[in-house]
Amino acid sequence: MLDFVIMDIYTIGFEEQLKILRRVASPIQNINDETVRLAEDMVDAMVKGNGIGLAGPQVGRLERLFTVKIGEDDPLVFINPEIISTSPELSSYEEGCLSIPGQYADVDRPALIQVQAWSTRGRPFTIEASGLLSTVIQHELDHLNGVLFIDHVSERKRKKILGKFEVDPEAYPEVE
Ligand code: NI
Repeated sequence: MLDFVIMDIYTIGFEEQLKILRRVASPIQNINDETVRLAEDMVDAMVKGNGIGLAGPQVGRLERLFTVKIGEDDPLVFINPEIISTSPELSSYEEGCLSIPGQYADVDRPALIQVQAWSTRGRPFTIEASGLLSTVIQHELDHLNGVLFIDHVSERKRKKILGKFEVDPEAYPEVE
């Protein structure tokens, strides 16, 4: 019997989903088979959605993990990630988000970062990231803190994007 899960990706156009996307996710206490399974399902959903990153809250799981896959590289899984250093130099990328489909905006972020996280095997690792990988990791880590890329753009641009999803800017929830 085929055993697979198609995870729904939460988008800002649904009030209840937007509320989840604006919440701070909790650390994962035990990295176990369930965590591995969740990460695998997230990788599948990310690839299916043509995304290069996906964070727990985007599939309704308020847990601190995200997945990344850039081009033909193997997917990466970051559990309980923390940025331990950032460069003063910034780089700018036009960002999009599976939770804000069809909308893009330039965002400046530190060009180089060092990140510490745990793997699905429960082992800690540290990586240095630059370029697109650095941006994706920062974008996904933001999701774990209830922050979306539209929080990094001008108010005017944010209102315009919220409008596309019929979200009243006055009703755009605070991070909880
Ligand atoms: Ni995103």
